[in-house]
Amino acid sequence: MSHAEDHEGTRRDFLYYATAGAGAITAGAAIWPLANQMNPSADVRALSSIRVDVSGIAPGTQLTVKWLGKPVFIRRRTEEEITAARDVELSELPDQGAENGNLPNGADASDENRSLDETGEWLVMMGVCTHLGCVPLGDAGDFGGWFCPCHGSHYDTSGRIRKGPAPRNLPVPVAEFVDASTIKLG
Ligand code: FES
Repeated sequence: MSHAEDHEGTRRDFLYYATAGAGAITAGAAIWPLANQMNPSADVRALSSIRVDVSGIAPGTQLTVKWLGKPVFIRRRTEEEITAARDVELSELPDQGAENGNLPNGADASDENRSLDETGEWLVMMGVCTHLGCVPLGDAGDFGGWFCPCHGSHYDTSGRIRKGPAPRNLPVPVAEFVDASTIKLG
């Protein structure tokens, strides 16, 4: 082996070990948050489910609460909003799925499948635009629901995408009434 080859070989070995070392560090770093997730602190467990008093929400208004670091819209809809949402033909909807964490996959995007109660008075949704994650504005847009000003996505009074670049309806999180005036998220 010439001196030059010997030198190159040594260098290759060095690169190999350096890469292996970096790989080991990366694997170690990836495991830590996973282990942490599997053993959440009491704080994190408490936050994964919250109760919201909705007694002060008047028809036609909404409350925005922060849950798991994201805004959640809790809207008490008027009769007009409910009728507008329920009169829409499913074939007009770009996203035909309910996007509702309380229902099985494949449920359709009818307003009945998105509202929290049978009358449709209550609508609970993540307030995060399904395009690139901005927070849409309420009582706005071409369909009287929500409007995301970032790139112009219009959602209807059921939070379903109707126009603009957002691909999906605003997701409905796992939620339920635990008494007449309290909604539990998660
Ligand atoms: Fe809402 Fe782009 S983030 S339209």
